[in-house]
Amino acid sequence: MCGIIGYVGKKSASPILLEGLRRLEYRGYDSAGVAVLDKTALVVRKKLGKIDEGIARLLKAEPVTGSLGIAHTRWATHGAPADKNSHPHFDQSETIAVVHNGVIENYDKLKQRLLQAGHKFKSDTDTEVLAHLIGEHYARRRGASGDAKTKSKLEPPHVVSYKPEMLALAVSDALREVIGTYGLAVICTDFPDTIVGARRGSPLIIGIGKGEHFLASDANAIVAHTKRVVYLNDYDVATITPERFDVINLGTDTANVQISNLEFSHEDVGRGKFAHFMLKEIYEQPQTVLNALRGRLDFEAATAKFGGLNMTVAELRGIDRIVIAASGTSWHAALVGEYLIEELAQLPVEVEFAHEFCYRNCPLEKNTVLLVLSQSGETADTLAALREAKRRGHRALAIVNVVGSTIAREADGGIYMHAGPEIGVASTKAFVSTLTVLTLLAVHLGRMRMLSAGRATEILRGLEALPQQIEKLLAQNGALKKLAKKYAQADDFFFLGRGYTFPIALEGALKLKEISYIHAEGYSAAEMKHGPIALIDAQTPTVFLVPQDAMYEKTLANLAMIRARKGPVIALATEGDKGIKKVADDVIYLPKTLEALNPILASVPLQLFAYHMAVARGCDVDKPRNLAKSVTVQ
Ligand code: AGP
Repeated sequence: MCGIIGYVGKKSASPILLEGLRRLEYRGYDSAGVAVLDKTALVVRKKLGKIDEGIARLLKAEPVTGSLGIAHTRWATHGAPADKNSHPHFDQSETIAVVHNGVIENYDKLKQRLLQAGHKFKSDTDTEVLAHLIGEHYARRRGASGDAKTKSKLEPPHVVSYKPEMLALAVSDALREVIGTYGLAVICTDFPDTIVGARRGSPLIIGIGKGEHFLASDANAIVAHTKRVVYLNDYDVATITPERFDVINLGTDTANVQISNLEFSHEDVGRGKFAHFMLKEIYEQPQTVLNALRGRLDFEAATAKFGGLNMTVAELRGIDRIVIAASGTSWHAALVGEYLIEELAQLPVEVEFAHEFCYRNCPLEKNTVLLVLSQSGETADTLAALREAKRRGHRALAIVNVVGSTIAREADGGIYMHAGPEIGVASTKAFVSTLTVLTLLAVHLGRMRMLSAGRATEILRGLEALPQQIEKLLAQNGALKKLAKKYAQADDFFFLGRGYTFPIALEGALKLKEISYIHAEGYSAAEMKHGPIALIDAQTPTVFLVPQDAMYEKTLANLAMIRARKGPVIALATEGDKGIKKVADDVIYLPKTLEALNPILASVPLQLFAYHMAVARGCDVDKPRNLAKSVTVQ
């Protein structure tokens, strides 16, 4: 949700910032802007619209030079998408520029105070208030240092007589007044080789280069330049120059600085031969499932093994209940997790929307563990749930994709998906990887309880077969494209499933609505008759998940109810089910697998279907309207 990149070194900043913005665009694409410091001249360019149509064109027409700069791609929170609300924002003196991710909750109060002091604002954003606040503190510190005279930003000769720490201190002063979340980068004409960054609740990392340093909200933006990074912690304030970086922490005496190596490369964040990231990521799934399984199948003990749960066998056996908290697609994965863990480990599971879990004060018995699921590891609601459980003295585990993300670092233990960077705003491969890891976890917990070796082995074998079966599903891409063409004009859709495939119906509907803007409802096939069936008519197609599982006959009966009301039916059925053709208008076949693994296989054709529907309707698949990849505000 919004992206930040900053560069200081010897190269020209503008191309590095622009390329970084392209890599960050999935974080937000309402508008974008850059601020570059050329010796003492602070030049800002910003533009409404996506990167290539907006800021890239502007920079071509009006280039900027200089080897220090900050840039931002925006997903609007305060203030509508507009040139004036785009970042960077200036302080009152226009010698300080700020880019910011997050929300300043007390911005109105701060703004009133600044207005009374004579400040004038040009935008409707909370960020501009923050910029003015930093400017106010900087002016005060500078005055106290013996030079209260206000310099014009371009007035020569420009003499920098202030210590670089002064900017970091002014930023710290301002942040002590702020309630809310931020990842930010600040530059000032007095310090032509310094960028100050800070974080609370919104990710920010330092990239370490040779004679150059970077700041970024997301490693994707800088992986082409360096793999050595420092993940900043909440309340860290960092100062970078070409030669060094320094970090202080507002809450503790010393900052905890650790250098990590990025595990992915520049190529991993490219689209390759694919038209869209989403399609590329759907096609990566045979490999990403393999990555999630690698080293974790233990056929000898008929179980799954993990390195990072950080719990002893006795502690794992002592768990009486698991609460899974997540958001969006990850919440759908959590519902499958509930079915898996309850069936295989006979352990009670409750699934919560992360945002509900935080505020509704639900009882958590002594031996309850919270498990959070998150692709990005940065979703604010999910992070808040994790912190709430820990605050209440409970162990909090996480299944996360992004290595080094905040959730990954704050969890007591967890499992990585190893799905690699997911750039498509609509989550696909991470969903399937989450399901794969949840299955492994259910087996792991089950084998400490009552799950037989025979049944566990059957599941492990089923998991092992998935990559090949997903390849088979991908081979149906042409058929799914055709199907999408046939139904592309529909205004409403239903997705129905029962048992293990009920959450997949929810996910199928979410995929369709978020990228093709078609109204779609996911429902339990059995629940339809209790009301929603009133909406079925000849213009409302239903995607029916009807694999040959324990609920098969019952689901067929539900399907008949839709047919009786003339609703068109697209069935996802098990290979070899010939009878289904008689009751469905169109059929997509799923390879035979265990009931517990149907969710993984059924997800793939639904992803492809949503993708082709969006393309057929001319939608921007990777940048769906109103959305951003990870939601870092609550
Ligand atoms: C999925 O397609 C979404 N765009 C969205 O629902 C997402 O799954 C949700 O915001 C949670 O993200 P996370 O997994 O990164 O926490």
